[in-house]
Amino acid sequence: MNKSFFTIKNILTVLLLMFIGIQFIDVKKNISQDQSANAIGNHYNVPPKVQSILKTSCYDCHSNNTIYPSYSKIQPVKWWLADHVNAGKRHLNFDEFNSYSREKKLEKLDEIVETVKEGEMPLASYTVIHQDAKLSASDRAEIEKWVSETKKGIK
Ligand code: HEC
Repeated sequence: MNKSFFTIKNILTVLLLMFIGIQFIDVKKNISQDQSANAIGNHYNVPPKVQSILKTSCYDCHSNNTIYPSYSKIQPVKWWLADHVNAGKRHLNFDEFNSYSREKKLEKLDEIVETVKEGEMPLASYTVIHQDAKLSASDRAEIEKWVSETKKGIK
């Protein structure tokens, strides 16, 4: 009798081997030892309250340093996180803020208020796990006030 290769057992074995195999693929972490000269706090006033909100709620995806949770060591979670961090940094990096043109700075600051107001940021898939990253009404007001003051310094 000619038995098919595609039995449940064989398929599960292949999937298991693939799962084990991808664990060995390394992904570069978003961790930088250097203090970035272009970090927003080096050029603009960021009050401690605002800095703490941004660090807790935004910096994992919008800075040169991500604090990685323990489950991030497992693939494909590692890829998924790297993808978010890369996309987040491409759109906005607080550690590279001063390298942006005047127009881009103003645009990004407006987008910060917009995305925060509309509840788009921080990403919902992030706050499910990072409950402390959820913004309160007063956090949002704090960010809005800081953005309008910072914009005055750029105009
Ligand atoms: C879990 C990762 C993550 C966190 C945390 C996060 N962001 Fe984002 N952010 C992204 C990604 C990814 C994008 C790219 C756009 C998209 O895919 O929706 C983005 C885009 C943005 C943009 C650009 C929007 C545009 O239209 O280009 C702004 C502004 C922004 N985020 C602000 C924030 C602020 C402010 C916080 C904290 C309150 C924050 N983000 C927290 C991942 C994150």
